[in-house]
Amino acid sequence: MILTNEFTIREVRLEDAARLAEIYSFYVLKTAVSFECSAPTVEEFEDRIRQTVEKYPYLVCEADNKIVGFAYAGEYNACDSYESTATVSIYLDRFYRRLGIGTALYDTLEKRLHDIGIVNIMAGVAYRKREDIYLAHESYKFHLKMGYSPVTRMKSVGKKFDRCYDLLWMQKKTNGARLKDKNPFRGLLLIPIMILVTVVVFKIAIWLDTNWIQWNTESLGHPFPVFTGFAFMVMPGADIAVCIITIIFSTIRVKRAIMKKRSVWHITS
Ligand SMILES: CC(C)(COP(=O)(O)OP(=O)(O)OC[C@H]1O[C@@H](n2cnc3c(N)ncnc32)[C@H](O)[C@@H]1OP(=O)(O)O)[C@@H](O)C(=O)NCCC(=O)NCCS
Repeated sequence: MILTNEFTIREVRLEDAARLAEIYSFYVLKTAVSFECSAPTVEEFEDRIRQTVEKYPYLVCEADNKIVGFAYAGEYNACDSYESTATVSIYLDRFYRRLGIGTALYDTLEKRLHDIGIVNIMAGVAYRKREDIYLAHESYKFHLKMGYSPVTRMKSVGKKFDRCYDLLWMQKKTNGARLKDKNPFRGLLLIPIMILVTVVVFKIAIWLDTNWIQWNTESLGHPFPVFTGFAFMVMPGADIAVCIITIIFSTIRVKRAIMKKRSVWHITS
């Protein structure tokens, strides 16, 4: 599909319901992207729009003189403590995918959510380790690209077309806070740094001994390289201590990262 016109994004209107229901019904009837099994009627869609716009943004994208996609936010949980958390959903006309419309809709939606004080955005993505005819990794990859991190995977909670699908919750912070885990091996960087420091210390010590001070020790009968000697006494011990501490901390971090990954991905099925 090649867009003949640029697309525009605007607020939803009640009269859009029929077209939105048409776009959405494809995903309900033919895919496992949505866990709904029967397509909502136009009236139901109108009700959903009415309810959503009371509190959250609801956007549509127009191109080629028609609506080609929509995205909206919703309540994550009615409890007051969750009021800075919202869910997001997006559906495009299937012939208008991969044109940057999803990105544009989400960018605008996320900005609106930020403006109304939402900090946590949650996307519930239907997921299956192996893609099948009903579900590809499209939504998962799209959310990853948009900066969402997988935080919880609920196994086999959705059953459609006689197959079980997982629900993967992906989260993004509107304040730019990081959700991605830091590299657990980052501490190991200290080892090459320590080797570099040791080399520099020895170079300086040797330079000092040869060019600056020559300690004449009568009993030895020759100058004693006091700085190099000091470096020999201190540096190997410091190096070994740094290596041991770094390896211990890295092992703990890696173990924690593996445990966390297991809890999110349930590697063992
Ligand atoms: C998921 C969806 C909203 C993406 O919108 P889109 O306009 O096609 O996505 P964009 O063109 O903005 O692509 C943004 C990025 O998402 C990723 N992406 C999107 N579609 C992808 C696909 N089919 N395969 C792999 N990556 C994909 C890519 O990283 C892409 O960046 P790139 O083009 O630079 O590689 C759209 O495909 C859609 O409506 N899918 C069906 C409904 C759906 O899954 N909704 C989500 C329910 S939670």
